[in-house]
Amino acid sequence: MHILLLGKIGQLGWELHRCLLPLGEVQALDYPEIDLARPEGLREVIRASAPDVIVNATAYTAVDKAESEHDLASTINAAAPAMMAEESKKIGAMLIHYSTDYVFDGEKGSPYLENDITHPLNVYGASKLAGEQAIQAAGDSYLILRTAWVYSLRRDSFVKKVLQWGHQNETLRIVDDQISNPTWARMLAEITGLILARGIEHTKERKGLYHLAGDGFASRLDWAKQILELDPNRYEQRVKEILPASTSEFPAPAQRPLFSALNCELFSKTFELQMPVWQDALARAVAD
Ligand SMILES: NC(=O)c1ccc[n+]([C@@H]2O[C@H](COP(=O)([O-])OP(=O)(O)OC[C@H]3O[C@@H](n4cnc5c(N)ncnc54)[C@H](OP(=O)(O)O)[C@@H]3O)[C@@H](O)[C@H]2O)c1
Repeated sequence: MHILLLGKIGQLGWELHRCLLPLGEVQALDYPEIDLARPEGLREVIRASAPDVIVNATAYTAVDKAESEHDLASTINAAAPAMMAEESKKIGAMLIHYSTDYVFDGEKGSPYLENDITHPLNVYGASKLAGEQAIQAAGDSYLILRTAWVYSLRRDSFVKKVLQWGHQNETLRIVDDQISNPTWARMLAEITGLILARGIEHTKERKGLYHLAGDGFASRLDWAKQILELDPNRYEQRVKEILPASTSEFPAPAQRPLFSALNCELFSKTFELQMPVWQDALARAVAD
């Protein structure tokens, strides 16, 4: 199997690179070899590579910055994936792409299903939704995996920040009104590898859009408490109290959905694969 991995140094891309290597020949690229802000160059790259599968781990993920960089977010998150879909269709390749819980507005009050109405509240969410729609319109064989609250210990993430705060401050104030599925990037990458290990035809027969995120959901406050409890260096923490706060107390350029947890049952039933419970994955991640 020849795999073209786009975005090899992001949280997910780095884990994907490791997980995909045993499956065949992997060509892994990142900026500046590819620049999704200029997606035309991608056509050449894809044609020259002639892969069986394109795995797109690139994205514009700066949620707040996107509010003032609408065009760039839209190019990277929508125009570039659209081009990947067109090119993969031409060469008969499968496209695996990742999207976000931020395509929803958080008003539903229970975990979102794949066919629930989308209504992004911010530019990032809108650009990712446009990317999904472009792939669906242009693409032939694609998997869009909507995920949520992705973290790794290698890059700046909520988990790394909470560990840092816990060692620097006696009091932490963390929002308890944002709720979703904490998802360790490695688990997402491993599941992607497991899907492809069954063969491209198996994957193509199950093409479509699925939710795939850590099992269960939590508020950022619950998540932070669990991070600090599992911290291997917890005896060196300075933190004495963790207080609940509300999102409105931390004004940010981008509005975020409050309850954006994803229901991942369709994926589990279709692929007979299950993400670990988020607390178990977190325990493995912080001990890694
Ligand atoms: N992080 C989350 O909480 C979260 C939640 C839901 C869904 N997702 C989705 O999950 C997927 C993976 O996210 P992630 O957390 O792994 O993101 P990430 O760590 O921000 O990685 C994104 C990757 O895209 C690359 N990239 C950005 N602009 C580029 C450009 N112009 N040309 C080429 N490459 C460029 C980045 O390179 P540089 O590092 O050099 O910029 C990085 O390698 C994305 O589709 C994201 O939308 C993420």
